[in-house]
Amino acid sequence: MNNFDFKNPTKIIFGKDSIQKLEAEIPNKAKVLLVYGGGSIKKNGIYEQVKSALSKVEVIEFGGIPANPEYAVLLDALQVIKEENITYLLAVGGGSVIDGTKFLSAAALFKGDTPWDILSKNIRTEVGMPFGTVLTLPATGSEMNSGAVITRKETKQKLGMGGPGLFPKFSILDPQVIASIPKRQLANGLTDAFMHVLEQYMTYPMGALLQDRFAESILQTLIEVAPRIIKNPKDYVAASNFMWSCTMALNGLIQKGVPTDWAIHGIGHELTALFGIDHARTLAIIAPSHYRFNFEAKKDKLAQYAERVWNIQEGSIDEKAKAAIIKTEGFLHELEIDTKLSDYTQDFEGTAEEIAKRFTDRGWLGLGEHKNLTPDKVETIVKMSY
Ligand code: NZQ
Ligand code: ZN
Repeated sequence: MNNFDFKNPTKIIFGKDSIQKLEAEIPNKAKVLLVYGGGSIKKNGIYEQVKSALSKVEVIEFGGIPANPEYAVLLDALQVIKEENITYLLAVGGGSVIDGTKFLSAAALFKGDTPWDILSKNIRTEVGMPFGTVLTLPATGSEMNSGAVITRKETKQKLGMGGPGLFPKFSILDPQVIASIPKRQLANGLTDAFMHVLEQYMTYPMGALLQDRFAESILQTLIEVAPRIIKNPKDYVAASNFMWSCTMALNGLIQKGVPTDWAIHGIGHELTALFGIDHARTLAIIAPSHYRFNFEAKKDKLAQYAERVWNIQEGSIDEKAKAAIIKTEGFLHELEIDTKLSDYTQDFEGTAEEIAKRFTDRGWLGLGEHKNLTPDKVETIVKMSY
């Protein structure tokens, strides 16, 4: 096992009717900016619950953060923070609202001239404006990690940021919020969390027995609850397991002491930047080709995944590993997630070359757990995904 440090300071408040506990988490004297998305919270009762829990503090609202949080919109919110002397941020939404709020947390205290530098120059945030979250969509794990991904439509860019100052102070996870999530977003959430685990697991064996079993147990739980949650998002048992699995998939725990890959996310973000494809779906497009292209390097772990997660006991390592890729595609297809780029756009010619060029320009010359996935290999993987 590799050496590691592990610190995750986010307080999780989990369970039925937990939104009312918000009141106790926000400092009395805070001036709060309530950040939300396109308005789903006004239709499903979450907004009223949040407002009633915030009745004792001063609150200004900023709605309209779009899916794939847009830089231009966030700059408007940043202006409100400055004009209104906001001291505390509250994100009420899914990964996009939470990531947007993380950007605001960083940008509010940023000393430089252009906040885009935080993303383009990869500036880590050591201290941000304090913020909490009320999670409305299990998927990204953003509610308990310190990363964010921001989109800039103008330049068709989607870049990551982070730093120890960007952990939420608290996150409220009430599985009842899942009841109003549309099927497409439920499928996205299940897929994103599943892929988060795979990115931190599908590398090579390194004797981290507990981390492997943490990862496998999250995958098994997602597989078990997926059909139940799609059929009935009001199923509280399924909803609570789904929600906690998504958080555990990307709060840092399972990646400690082990190699991680993250090439699928790196490539996937470009597909969102270029075509606006939902984040989770970009991962479903790239993952099968990525595993087929890197088969030799990953086959031992693929076979372990086949045995332990999909209960494939027959055949050689190679046969089990191949079967595991097919099982993964089958799982995605059952969620009605398409796994080819051409299922999403007919305008795909040249995409592989464009992504390879972007990675070269950005100096991303070696992705993956071995840091040997050069832009020309990325190009091949993307072409295999057409
Ligand atoms: O905007 P509103 O009206 O709220 O509607 C949202 C949005 O349209 C809706 N929704 C959310 N909760 C709902 C609901 N509808 C009904 N009932 C509810 N309870 O769902 C739609 C999608 O929301 P969004 O926040 O965009 O989805 P998700 O949570 O999947 O977030 C995706 C973003 O997170 C980034 C992605 O790249 C993408 O930009 N990621 C963030 C990560 C992180 N910070 O760690 C890791 C991930 O890998 C990912 O990159
Ligand atoms: Zn993801």
